[in-house]
Amino acid sequence: MIWLGVESSCDETACAVLEQGDKVRVLSNPLYSQIQEHAVFGGVVPEVAAREHLKKIYGIASEAIKMAGVTFSDIDAIAFTAGPGLMGPLLVGASFARGLALDLGVPAYGVNHLEGHLAAAWLSAQDLKPPFLTLTVSGGHTELILEEPGFKYTAIGRTRDDAAGEAFDKCGKLLGLGYPAGATIGKLAVGKNRKFHHFPRALKGKADGEFSFSGLKTSVLRYVESHSPEYIQENLGDICASLEESIVDILVSKTVWALKKTGMKTLVVGGGVSANMRLRELLDNYCRPREIRLCFPERSLSTDNGAMIAAAAIRREKEHALLNIENVKPWMPLAL
Ligand code: KG4
Ligand code: ZN
Repeated sequence: MIWLGVESSCDETACAVLEQGDKVRVLSNPLYSQIQEHAVFGGVVPEVAAREHLKKIYGIASEAIKMAGVTFSDIDAIAFTAGPGLMGPLLVGASFARGLALDLGVPAYGVNHLEGHLAAAWLSAQDLKPPFLTLTVSGGHTELILEEPGFKYTAIGRTRDDAAGEAFDKCGKLLGLGYPAGATIGKLAVGKNRKFHHFPRALKGKADGEFSFSGLKTSVLRYVESHSPEYIQENLGDICASLEESIVDILVSKTVWALKKTGMKTLVVGGGVSANMRLRELLDNYCRPREIRLCFPERSLSTDNGAMIAAAAIRREKEHALLNIENVKPWMPLAL
């Protein structure tokens, strides 16, 4: 069975072709990143994003088909991101996917974007079966959710304000690092002094799964205000390492708390921040000696892409739990 996955919830226009056999294979996964269109504003502008999706989506879908060595008529089903995400961008993807499905005479299924991020990890561990604990860390979400058989989700904890990726991006912006800053901070931090400055770790001592990153932003702002631009530049690597450490430290300590609380022996991580090498290292340090199975996506599949959306639909197809458009809402959370 050949699937086309379509992702357009934020600023990436992404399509992928996946082959569902005994194992699922990603045949192609191209995307157009709108970073340049939004960089000048320092963040994503929803209207601009929607217009760019409209311009690019057919071209990206055609590229995915071509790269996979198939034709549009080989497609058996289409999966698209139904939410959560920006309304305009979501509408473009949904309209494109449903229109194409109608033309090809194949079904189109709505997919939850967060389920997509977790399915990216499943692509590398296809024997994975719930129950397991999940950590979704992206530009819009920071969530600890328990997944049980039948796509039953229970919220363990989430951020009260900014998401982890948002913290990377906003703090990076204050340090003059452009948008998005997560990957840049990760690169600049390699081999640098993580104890150079102690940035706050909000709610760390609290025995729950709640996160808060907005105070960190203020703390970085105060730090930048109280040091000269030359000092910041000279010590940028060490500052990034210290900042990364504070975000990752919180993510790991709350995840450890949730693992203990739920007694889960498997942890699945997804979302753009799951590309972070320090997060991977520290979670591995905790899980490995305790024989907790740790599943990350391939790094290239951590950030938004079309393959994860098709993969999420395939996971559901295997359990006869696909969602029709009537069952999915653009604002839908995975767990309340
Ligand atoms: O999942 P994603 O592509 O989009 C959303 O659904 O939000 O995540 C994007 C986020 C951005 O905030 C970006 O800065 C962050 O993921 N990110 C990283 C890294 N790569 C991307 N954060 C930390 N380390 C990275 N290597
Ligand atoms: Zn995402």
